[in-house]
Amino acid sequence: MDRANLNRWPYLPGMQKTVAVLTMLGRLLGVIQILVGLAIWFGFAARTVAFHMAVGSLFVLVLWIVGLIALFVLDKRGVALFTLLWGGFVLWLGMAQTTLFIGTGHWVVRLAHLLVGMAAIGLVDSLGRAMKTHYAATASAPSAA
Ligand code: HEM
Repeated sequence: MDRANLNRWPYLPGMQKTVAVLTMLGRLLGVIQILVGLAIWFGFAARTVAFHMAVGSLFVLVLWIVGLIALFVLDKRGVALFTLLWGGFVLWLGMAQTTLFIGTGHWVVRLAHLLVGMAAIGLVDSLGRAMKTHYAATASAPSAA
């Protein structure tokens, strides 16, 4: 089956709402991560590290689901593939966070963790937007059937 027909596969158009909800969830979890993370960084919320790790893992799960759907829905797969790999990197960096460059250089790891996380939020957001555009274009295109 060629990709044009694959996009008309019955289940994928029905994913439109799922994609919208997952994208919103990704943005929400991402914002929570930035706020809680900054609170941890500036010493207001040392007790919330476990919560931050749980929400971060959930965020990566959402990112992987969005990336997987995008892999099948979008005509260009590069960003979706990169997002799937980036999710693994976010998770690894988060888990290894407290063990890297301990000492005066640790701020570099902290900054890298923040930037890597923000990039992940941006990737979820752009895949969500790209799929929204794709679904709108597919809906308005005349059917070949
Ligand atoms: C959108 C994703 C994420 C963002 C924006 C984010 C942001 C932050 C920020 C700003 C900090 C404070 C600075 C620092 O110590 O690095 C932090 C701390 C931390 N993050 Fe994340 N994070 C994300 C995902 C994750 C994930 C997936 C994990 C692990 C599963 C994780 C684990 C941690 C840990 C353990 C700390 C505390 C480090 C310490 O005690 O110094 N984060 N995060």
